[in-house]
Amino acid sequence: MKRLFGVFLACTLAISLTACSGGSRENETAADTETQMTATEAVTEETAAETETETTMTEAVTEETAAEAETEMTMTEAVTEETAAEAETEMTAAEENILIAYFSWSGNTEALAGMIQSEVGGDLFRIETAEPYTDDYDTLLDIAQAEQQEGARPQLSGQVDNWDSYDVIFVGYPNWWSDAPMAVYTFLEYYDFTGKTLIPFNTSASGGFGRSLSGVEESAPGATILDGFTVTGDNVENAAGDVSAWISGLGL
Ligand SMILES: Cc1cc2nc3c(=O)[nH]c(=O)nc-3n(C[C@H](O)[C@H](O)[C@H](O)COP(=O)(O)O)c2cc1C
Repeated sequence: MKRLFGVFLACTLAISLTACSGGSRENETAADTETQMTATEAVTEETAAETETETTMTEAVTEETAAEAETEMTMTEAVTEETAAEAETEMTAAEENILIAYFSWSGNTEALAGMIQSEVGGDLFRIETAEPYTDDYDTLLDIAQAEQQEGARPQLSGQVDNWDSYDVIFVGYPNWWSDAPMAVYTFLEYYDFTGKTLIPFNTSASGGFGRSLSGVEESAPGATILDGFTVTGDNVENAAGDVSAWISGLGL
């Protein structure tokens, strides 16, 4: 009986051990599978996350590229607009910085001033005395001679607006007794010609500038004086070609 009980105990123990041993392997396999699944999910999630990140980065790069392209376009537009604005400014400046001032009693010098404006643009300014000169030629000869002998500076009726805006000033006048009319000296002495370019022009019966050029130079200190143009009153009408050639040679 004792022997039988011993065999029974041994079998029970063996069965228990076998049972325990089998259950543990199953649990391990399940755990392994779960771990593997978790790992796979993690990898999948990681891949998804990476994909998402890449997508987001691609979008970001695309957006950045678009933004850069837009910025470049905007800059190009800005540069184009700036260039257009500069071109406009240069054109405006080229037209606005020239003044054509002239004295004229019988119209010849005025006609010449108009031809110059046709060539270079700019603004016209008529030099006029506050007290107008007589319409009588012989009386005028006497008045003009007396004023010259006195070194008169007749008062003028108007002033140039925005003098500082002009860089180039054409100054025209008729020959009166081999000199400029005294009113022209009033004009020259009134304004500051420092840094300005002064270009004389003249009409006469035959005497050209006479001695007026030295007087102009003295009365406009600081000016750069370029070669002038002179024509007889009778030839003003036909002077357009000569005026054009003269202006071309000035290098303005
Ligand atoms: C008072 C006076 C003096 C003049 N003196 C001279 C002179 O000495 N030499 C000369 O060649 N022409 C002389 N002229 C002629 C003018 O210079 C010439 O007619 C000129 O073209 C007139 O210009 P304007 O029409 O712009 O006034 C004189 C004219 C006047 C009215």
